[in-house]
Amino acid sequence: MHWNLTSPADSRRHDPADVLAAGMEQHAIANTAYPIGHLTTMRPYRVTRREAQSFAPQPWEGIDRLGLYVHIPFCETRCGFCEYAVIDPKQNAAEKDDYFDLLEREFALWDRAIDSRGKTLTGFDIGGGTPSLPAARQIGRVMEAAARHFHLPSDVTVSIETTPKIAASDPGKLAAYQRMGIRRISMGVQTVSPCLLEAIGRTATTLEWNRQAVENIRAADYANFNVDVMYGFARQNVDSVEATLRHVIDLAPEHITLYQMRYKGTRIAHQAGGITWAQIGEQAQLAKQMLAEAGYWAAPGKNTFSRIPGDLGTSDYLTNRVVNGAPYLGIGLGSQSLSHTSLSYNTGAADKDMRLYRRYVESGKLPIQDIYHLSREAAMGKFIAVAFYFGGIHLPSFQEKFGCALEAALPDALAFVLEKGLMEYRGETLQLTAVGVEAKPGVHALFYAPAVQEHLLKLCRGERVRPRSGWRKQWQAEWQEIQMDKVKG
Ligand SMILES: C[S@@+](CC[C@H](N)C(=O)[O-])C[C@H]1O[C@@H](n2cnc3c(N)ncnc32)[C@H](O)[C@@H]1O
Ligand code: SF4
Repeated sequence: MHWNLTSPADSRRHDPADVLAAGMEQHAIANTAYPIGHLTTMRPYRVTRREAQSFAPQPWEGIDRLGLYVHIPFCETRCGFCEYAVIDPKQNAAEKDDYFDLLEREFALWDRAIDSRGKTLTGFDIGGGTPSLPAARQIGRVMEAAARHFHLPSDVTVSIETTPKIAASDPGKLAAYQRMGIRRISMGVQTVSPCLLEAIGRTATTLEWNRQAVENIRAADYANFNVDVMYGFARQNVDSVEATLRHVIDLAPEHITLYQMRYKGTRIAHQAGGITWAQIGEQAQLAKQMLAEAGYWAAPGKNTFSRIPGDLGTSDYLTNRVVNGAPYLGIGLGSQSLSHTSLSYNTGAADKDMRLYRRYVESGKLPIQDIYHLSREAAMGKFIAVAFYFGGIHLPSFQEKFGCALEAALPDALAFVLEKGLMEYRGETLQLTAVGVEAKPGVHALFYAPAVQEHLLKLCRGERVRPRSGWRKQWQAEWQEIQMDKVKG
């Protein structure tokens, strides 16, 4: 494995007790959305913009199996809480059809760069945004492009996302996806509380639409159906969580995923301080108890609950990412890709703007905005942060990916979580305990790369964490170049 060796911060060690406390204090950012600071903690790994195109294909050499994610950045309206790359809905009409031409071109660019036809997909998600907003034939083009540019085995379950409003009002699309071979569907309900829906700007959910959507999804023969629910909003109370769970359980999906609100980078980020970790914990506990009573199960710390025995409930794409640390390629505006040694983000991840993405693709360049050549420590931090989606680290996968046991790689963190009863061995997995679930942000932080731990510790001490001026200058120069590109585009 060709790791980057550039960050001196990688060799530092921090007291696990301090790191646990820092993670708890910074609970709004110490979660699975890793790596946290693009201009600070990730800086040593960043490949310059000039070198990005020639560097990008190299980390995929020797990778024969990977997950594929295709991002569709359109929504009818933009919910205030959303953290995803969604373009201004006013631009939808102008961009929607063109975007699928660009996606096909990006598929072809990757094919040329990494010889993707020789690679086998282990999972394939079409996400967003709202991929069910554009016409079904456009999703058909995405399916054909995936099958043309990768080997897509017939036993891989392809998954797509929808809103209740669209699934309720357009049953023809659901049937069309089935005909294309899409077998899993995920729908965001989020909450049923009318005043909260209004406060967070969510217009795609009503009780009636939710029920009609489920009727249509079942009529279209989906037997692998997930509903997303959110909690942890400022000013949300436990009654609203209870009413939402009661309604969602009544809809009887196979799987229910609980999302704790992550504020960073959202339009309502300023509300992050409006809810305490204790309140979030109370809501999570109630939701989990109701799910358990209704026959939905998940390992401690895992967010997706399933009522189907032996089924983890997540898509093949996500399951492979989380359990096996499988590399994944993201295609489309703002999507993220992770090989064993690199992490990259397509243009649009930060500004949610299509212009630069179009300019790159039309000029035959991979639409990469930022690419990082990871150190072993940074790659371990990312692997484990993702693993915490399921509340635990699959030890054989860690060993296979990094060539050594977790015990040898991170002995201090491991000894600490075992001694404090935060995690325990469960078969081949090191899993959160009930105590660990309560202290999840702190436990996450214990496995972050040392540079990221230092960042959290500095935040707690109120120290300056902004990038140093030399770096800022370089970044600004590159940013200016990007802006120039935009003007030219
Ligand atoms: C891309 S959205 C999917 C689906 C569809 N657009 C919808 O809203 O129904 C995937 C899920 O991420 C979750 N989500 C969105 N923003 C979030 C945030 N800031 N923090 C945590 N979860 C979030 C929501 O539960 C949402 O259903
Ligand atoms: S939550 Fe769903 S509908 Fe709302 S803006 Fe995000 S992707 Fe779009």
